Amino acid sequence: MTLLALAVGGRGLVDPAEPVLHADDEAFLRGRAAFETIRVYDGRPFRLDDHLDRLGASAERLGLPPVDVVAFRGIAREALHASGELEAVLRLYVTPGREGGAFPTALAMVSTLPPDLEGRRASGLRMISVQLGIEPGVRAGAPWLLGGVKSTSYAVNMAAELEAQRRDADDAVFLASGRIVLEGPVTNVWWRTGRDLFTPALDLGILAGVTRATLIELAAELGYATHEGTYTVQDLAAAEEAFTSSSIREVMPMIELDGKPLGDGRPGPAAAELQAALRRAATT
Ligand SMILES: Cc1ncc(COP(=O)(O)O)c(C=O)c1O
Repeated sequence: MTLLALAVGGRGLVDPAEPVLHADDEAFLRGRAAFETIRVYDGRPFRLDDHLDRLGASAERLGLPPVDVVAFRGIAREALHASGELEAVLRLYVTPGREGGAFPTALAMVSTLPPDLEGRRASGLRMISVQLGIEPGVRAGAPWLLGGVKSTSYAVNMAAELEAQRRDADDAVFLASGRIVLEGPVTNVWWRTGRDLFTPALDLGILAGVTRATLIELAAELGYATHEGTYTVQDLAAAEEAFTSSSIREVMPMIELDGKPLGDGRPGPAAAELQAALRRAATT
C-alpha cells in the first residue's frame, strides 16, 4: 500500500512524507494506541459510523481520552479529498501522545489498496492453524488481555502471518487451547455446511469485525442461517467451504488448511455470493 494523503487532528493536511509523531509517543514506545482500517468505495468510507464506534471503544479500553468523532470525520474527509482516490484504504489512529503529556494525536491516512486482492480471491488462500496460547473463555473475564480491542500491538498478528509465509501458506487461523477456532491475524473466519454458516462467537475475545456484522445481515437476506459459537478446528476442517472476512480483503475464500483441502479445495459458492452482496451493499 502507498500512503497518498495524511491529515492530523488540530493541524489538517500534512505532507505524507513529513514525520508527525514524537519519539516518546506511547503508540511507539509501548504499542498503546487504537486504530481502524476502512474500505473506501467510490469515495465513501463504508460503515464509517461503526468503525468510529469501535475506535472509541478501543480507545476507552486502552485508557485513552474519549475519541473526538467530529474531528475524526473532518480529518478523514480532508485526507480522502486530498488523495483524489475513489477506491482506497482509510486508516484512523488515535495515540496517547507524548509520555507524561495529555494530548492524544489523531491521524487519518489514505492509501492505495493492496495489490492483487482479486487474484487472491479467485485462487483462494492456503491457511495454517497456529496456537494463540490462551484458554477459549479467558478473555471475556480479563479486560487487560484486550480481547476485541483493535490496538496497535499487532506484532503477534504480523508474526503469525510471517509464520504462514515461512510454511509456504498464505495466512493463519488463530486457535485457543482445545483447538478452538478464533480468527485470523487481520480477519474473521467463517465456514459453511449446507445452508448453515458458522463463525466464532465474539465472547471468545475476537475482534467484532464490521464486515462480520455486515455479512451476518447479508447472509440472512440470502437465506443462510448463521451460527456464532465455540467450534473446533475439526469443525472448520470438515466444512464444505470456508472463507475469511475483513474490510480490505472483503470475503476471501480459504481453500486449504494445514495442507489439506477445505471442501473441494476451490473457492466456494457462499463466499462468491456474500462477496457480491457485500459489494452491492457498499456501492448502492
Ligand atoms: C484481528 C482481526 N480480526 C478481524 C478483523 C476484521 O475486521 P473488519 O471486518 O472490521 O475489518 C480484523 C481487521 O483488521 C482484525 O485485525
